[in-house]
Amino acid sequence: MTNDKRSSNAGSSVVRKCLLLGSMAAFATATLYFAGVFNGDTVTAQRFVDLQQGDEPHLGFRRAHAKGMCVSGRFESTGALASYSTAAIFNEGDTEFLGRFSIAGNNPTAPDLKAPVRSFAFVVNSATTQEWRVAMNTPPVMAVATPDAFFQQLQALSPDPITKQRDPEKIKAFFKAHPESKAFNEWKAGYVPTNSFATERYHSINAFYLHNAHGEKQAVRFEAVPDDDYKELVELDQTSADALQQQLAEQLKNQPVKFDLMFTLAHSSDDENNPTIPWPTTRKTINAGTLVITDWRPQDEGKCGAQNFDPLVLPAGMSATADPILRARGAAYAQSYRRRATETLLDGQSTNQ
Ligand code: HEM
Repeated sequence: MTNDKRSSNAGSSVVRKCLLLGSMAAFATATLYFAGVFNGDTVTAQRFVDLQQGDEPHLGFRRAHAKGMCVSGRFESTGALASYSTAAIFNEGDTEFLGRFSIAGNNPTAPDLKAPVRSFAFVVNSATTQEWRVAMNTPPVMAVATPDAFFQQLQALSPDPITKQRDPEKIKAFFKAHPESKAFNEWKAGYVPTNSFATERYHSINAFYLHNAHGEKQAVRFEAVPDDDYKELVELDQTSADALQQQLAEQLKNQPVKFDLMFTLAHSSDDENNPTIPWPTTRKTINAGTLVITDWRPQDEGKCGAQNFDPLVLPAGMSATADPILRARGAAYAQSYRRRATETLLDGQSTNQ
């Protein structure tokens, strides 16, 4: 072997070692990043949940949407979505579901009627390859399109730790710096809360893909639209902190509460990865079926208290889009779940909230 070859072999061995060390360092950095070790400006699931739970966490409870009630019933599928998705739930027929209505916020005793956002979550076919977990909110869109910007939004909306008041100037400045929040703010300005969980519309906000038996995929958003036969709504007790829960419990004594699960099909010009932009109302919609709610339980009794409604748990025949907000949700929900489950076990309770 010539000296030239020897030095070139030695050189390439050094390069290989550098590359190996470099990739090991990159792997370690990524691992530490996702473990939330770097708490600088990086938004991690841990930092999200730290911020959402506030200075005095309510132990054992969800760190967001802490106050809620559990419901159960069946999904009566029309079969109309079966040609778009192979998911079992979209075949014609009934599937039982477990659900939860909640209000946004970290306080499990907050007054129902003060909450700016109401929510509906459900799960079907749990613990099978056909499991589908859903968590929907009343706004049809997000104010911002990235986890970083959403983190800043939560920071701007957080009350001052001393005065416990929000700073209107900070909030104004945030929305001014985020013109993409236009559609959200328009919705907010026109939104009139209804007198029942049963009469709100709940939106997936993020988009998903449906996959059919021919390997075709279709981007969709979906919403739960209330059945309009609630002409005789049980009256709401405006003075009660639990007004919405009590109203729904009474309503269910009279009749099941129903929602149609409406899917909107994206056009190729719609951006399925940006949850701030509404799709035109002319897009094709399909009624996948009706969610029929027949029963309810307090959240500390119902099985759904221990449920994590992670929207990334999808049945075969559905998949997640690359929407970065959607992708960030799974880790944050898991972080909140881990905290509340650990606290509940340490507390010796048999269920968690
Ligand atoms: C990056 C954005 C988001 C973050 C960090 C986040 C965070 C969280 C966390 C930590 C929980 C508590 C989970 C648990 O303990 O089980 C939660 C619950 C929930 N979130 Fe989000 N969320 C985000 C976006 C959204 C969006 C876009 C929607 C609506 C489409 C939504 C709807 C809900 C609902 C309905 C619940 C309560 C589910 C239940 O009843 O258990 N979230 N969220």
